[in-house]
Amino acid sequence: MSDEKHDDVLLKVDHLSMYFGHGTFVKKAVNDVSFEVRKGEVFGLVGESGCGKTTTGRTIIKLYDATSGSVYFDGKRIVAGTGAYKDEIKHLRKRKRELAKSSDANAAKELEECARRIGELQNEIRKAKYDHKHCDDEFRKEEKARINEEYDALIAEAKPEDVSRLQREKRRKLRIASRTKLVTQIQMIYQDPVASLDPRMTVREIISEGLIVQGVRDKKYITDQVYEMLDTVGLVHEHADRYPHEFSGGQRQRIGIARSVVMKPKLIIADEPISALDVSIRAQVINLLNELRETMGMTILFIAHDLSVVKYFSNRIGVMYFGNLVELADSDELFRHPLHPYTRSLLSAIPLPDPDTEKNRVRIRYNPLLDHERTDEEPLFREVCPGHSVRCTMKEFEAYKKQVEEE
Ligand SMILES: Nc1ncnc2c1ncn2[C@@H]1O[C@H](COP(=O)(O)OP(=O)(O)O)[C@@H](O)[C@H]1O
Ligand SMILES: [Mg+2]
Repeated sequence: MSDEKHDDVLLKVDHLSMYFGHGTFVKKAVNDVSFEVRKGEVFGLVGESGCGKTTTGRTIIKLYDATSGSVYFDGKRIVAGTGAYKDEIKHLRKRKRELAKSSDANAAKELEECARRIGELQNEIRKAKYDHKHCDDEFRKEEKARINEEYDALIAEAKPEDVSRLQREKRRKLRIASRTKLVTQIQMIYQDPVASLDPRMTVREIISEGLIVQGVRDKKYITDQVYEMLDTVGLVHEHADRYPHEFSGGQRQRIGIARSVVMKPKLIIADEPISALDVSIRAQVINLLNELRETMGMTILFIAHDLSVVKYFSNRIGVMYFGNLVELADSDELFRHPLHPYTRSLLSAIPLPDPDTEKNRVRIRYNPLLDHERTDEEPLFREVCPGHSVRCTMKEFEAYKKQVEEE
């Protein structure tokens, strides 16, 4: 299994692409996106509707099969697309056919090089398929070893009357570990709290469903967890036996959060969790997420369509446009020195609190045809200064660098 270890990186999205459709009708919903989310931080992913934010989130949790690229979670590769490798092989095979016909002196050498590279890529595909399929097995093995070690030590030191209880607990945890998937450590919170909750299930059933699927049978433990989660998200125990339609939008979103948090995830992907809510209760939900981050040490990938929401909440921000990540920086840095014209246009859309300055606020519109010089060069994601990257051409890159130095 390929391990990429960085101490503080929890999620690493590496050249991830997700295309829908085939042939001439390909929709590049996510195109070669790379970013890292560090432990304990809130990473904001921002961009207008349809730019590929939800698809990015859903590909990370393996709801879609990635076209190409990888996702590493806690050092393990959980998503591994093979499209880029296959494309390169196709390209190399074509080249091989051309070379076979040519009488060029260097052809034999290049042919050999092509064959070597194809072998390398086939190996990569094998590795990717293995990781995609077996990341859970490896994770389970590690979990079981950890539980065994923990409980064996406890049991060795326990008083005789506690031994059978500890053994029961150990068996229960081992059973759950044998069913746990690595991706259950990533939970998603959805935009629409009405559509994402089953109307025929009580709050108790909604919150406990994930635990039951995982193999938890202890009724008391489940009840305790449900109540604890209701406390955590600011609802009361009496709410447990009601149905989603009996709640307001904000309360439903709290139920959605409880359903995710009960799985004790390390990472929460919050997909526009407040967009469908009343303005007056948005801050409450943000505060709740912030509390969870502090008390439970959770990391949050926060998806939003405008920058005003993520401004005070995110440590770092990635800006997406039409499937591409166009800019990435620390929050403060992004607001102080936005470089990409699309980021500038997003910033100009934020209303200002002061009525005098608000009156004079000029809304900048992004027009890719006017805002970039016409060229055949494919823009690449480049680091302009430490921690601040922009998708740009070489010429733009030089200009941005100069701009940063001057500011
Ligand atoms: N299952 C799908 N099949 C085909 N196209 C899709 C699918 N899901 C999303 N898309 C398209 O991919 C693009 C990105 O969508 P999405 O990730 O939902 O954007 P966002 O969440 O940023 O609003 C959109 O153009 C959307 O129409
Ligand atoms: Mg979306």
